[in-house]
Amino acid sequence: MPNSRRAFFKTGAVAIAGGAAVSAVPVAKAGPLQVTPACAGHETPPAFDGPLFKPNSPERTNLLTPSVRGVRLDLRGVVYSPQCQTVGGALLDFWQCDQNGDYDTVGFGLRGHQRSNSKGEYHLNTIIPRDYFGQWGWRAPHIHVQIQAPGGPPLVTQLYFPDDTQAYGRDFAALNAGDEFINRVCTIQVARTGSGYRGTFDFVIKTTVGAP
Ligand SMILES: [Fe+2]
Repeated sequence: MPNSRRAFFKTGAVAIAGGAAVSAVPVAKAGPLQVTPACAGHETPPAFDGPLFKPNSPERTNLLTPSVRGVRLDLRGVVYSPQCQTVGGALLDFWQCDQNGDYDTVGFGLRGHQRSNSKGEYHLNTIIPRDYFGQWGWRAPHIHVQIQAPGGPPLVTQLYFPDDTQAYGRDFAALNAGDEFINRVCTIQVARTGSGYRGTFDFVIKTTVGAP
């Protein structure tokens, strides 16, 4: 089930003594807030696509070609509708730069599209991209994605990484703080693995063109 980013509170038991409420203390629920956008009607926010998108990327879930030598990222997630229904058959088209901050503008390195399965799930084997300086100034590491439900409008957005991510000797906290285009709602949740990171990010997208 999807998680909610909201801070939930549960109200302590209300005991009545002599007609007076003696305990009604809000108690914060334990555990950290979720960073991944939740399926609570909160659609994944858009971002500019930039000039480096290329149509007709190969259909594949594994972007790890021999020339790719960056920090591994095993990214998984679920595509939801705003009504929290899983969206199968959604088109996800990913593109990103490599371990040196370079995009492949000649071929299709670190580019690929796929469709979510019948449970709305997607899976991408890739690397954590490096930061780079470009048309929009110094960019924090990010993965571009265009996603579209069957019959829905396309959404273009960018996914980011937590401040404590360790890759390429870079200070992700400083890079994130210095990127004026970052949207931290679009932060991938990551966990270390033996060869890199496991990441999760769930999308919430419109499934009907013209839907509010
Ligand atoms: Fe980019």
